[in-house]
Amino acid sequence: MYDQNPTIENVKQQVAEERQGEALVLGEEKDGKKFYIESYGCAMNFSDSEIVASILAKQGYSSTKHMEQSDLILINTCSIREKAEYNVRQRLRVFDNVKRERPGTLIGVMGCMAERLKEKLLEQEKLVDIVVGPDAYRDLPQLISSAEDGDKGVNVFLSREETYADISPLRLGSNGVNAFISIMRGCDNMCSFCVVPYTRGRERSRDAYSIVAEAADLFEKGYREVMLLGQNVDSYKWASPDGEEQVNFASLLERVALVSPDLRVRFSTSHPKDITDEVLYKIRDYENICNYIHLPVQSGNSRILKLMNRTYDREWYKERVEAIYRIIPDCAISSDIITGFCTETEEEHQDTLSMIEWAGYTMSYMFAYSERPGTLAAKKYEDDIDLKTKKRRLSEVVHLQQELSHQHNLRDIGKTFKVLVEGVSKKSDKHLKGKNSQYKVVVFPTDGTIKKGDYVHVRIKEVTSATLKGEIVTADE
Ligand code: 5AD
Ligand code: SF4
Repeated sequence: MYDQNPTIENVKQQVAEERQGEALVLGEEKDGKKFYIESYGCAMNFSDSEIVASILAKQGYSSTKHMEQSDLILINTCSIREKAEYNVRQRLRVFDNVKRERPGTLIGVMGCMAERLKEKLLEQEKLVDIVVGPDAYRDLPQLISSAEDGDKGVNVFLSREETYADISPLRLGSNGVNAFISIMRGCDNMCSFCVVPYTRGRERSRDAYSIVAEAADLFEKGYREVMLLGQNVDSYKWASPDGEEQVNFASLLERVALVSPDLRVRFSTSHPKDITDEVLYKIRDYENICNYIHLPVQSGNSRILKLMNRTYDREWYKERVEAIYRIIPDCAISSDIITGFCTETEEEHQDTLSMIEWAGYTMSYMFAYSERPGTLAAKKYEDDIDLKTKKRRLSEVVHLQQELSHQHNLRDIGKTFKVLVEGVSKKSDKHLKGKNSQYKVVVFPTDGTIKKGDYVHVRIKEVTSATLKGEIVTADE
């Protein structure tokens, strides 16, 4: 569920620090009140910022990429590791300076850190005016108006029902091709290392019809790929109010895939304990459901997995990976890994390395364990692996994954992939970039006739550990 862009820069960046925030804007700037929003953390946060933008637009706000010209500065925060919160505090220093220059500007902290720290954030960050948790975004207009009257506004109420199903997100900073659709919120899993159940509340699934309608609307508007988002998509479960109709994740996937064969469908994140063969068969049966599964293992050792409260062991995980490769032979699998969890021995760390190799991940998001206040692990276990050891283990994991990603990519040389074009390559405007079904970045020279949102077939000629490079061919070449 974390940042999903498989570039080497990103992998390095995630190891070294949390994902950089992005200032997100839409369309042209208008007169009237303006908001500036930066988002950090997972895709769900970026998706939430689009919901907030929609709520603000209804209030007459337009977005700006210039914080010093805005009436409202929002920062959508992440709490998953200590470093993520540290980065947010650094950004707040910058916003403070803007506010000193332009005293009317309001500063709002939203997202997971707002939820975790609640009123405490106002005590710690004197220039913050608004603190709003992930389930309280509808209340933003009221919070803004009390802040305008000089009162601090706080709403961190966590809901059992809120899914923002009726709010049509404003696609901020969009390339017009890929879009997120949030299908559920919250998490009931209680992994012992994780702060998410405390910051995002109980799991709830969004109305299936509103999801399909959003996908159809995006397709109409020219989008060609949707990413269905949830902390644990495999436990998606929605029933119609009369209870007649039950929709699980497999059938939701199918409904979205049926919007159009030209609309690619991706999803994230899958939990190894919940991913079913039924889902795997849907991926196999629909060409437009991408052959890519993000299936975080966290650790390759059964004792550590038990301490993490992941509710599966090494054998269970391996069986699920075998099922994926059996049912969808060319499926790519990626993972999340934590090194140096409480009491992890060198042998247990070796089990993680051997799992990475065995599973053949195309990429992984890799992290050193960071104790989070209030989590089960913080309460029950000592954070006893020193930072140096955590980091050394992390670098072993990173190097192995880089090597394996490269080897995986080398095996793609000579193959032809259907690629959805996302835009011009960063390095050269004579090249386009896009992704194949396996979520690999593919770069190729343009002949000038191809545009964003087109599908092309590309034969791969050379690779790095992060990118495939090739040339356009006709489909049956
Ligand atoms: N320390 C380090 N990594 C963490 N993650 C979640 N909580 C922590 C933590 N306390 C990682 C997990 C998860 C990903 C989103 O972030 O690997 O899958
Ligand atoms: Fe997303 Fe988790 Fe970070 Fe919240 S704490 S922003 S849910 S990654």
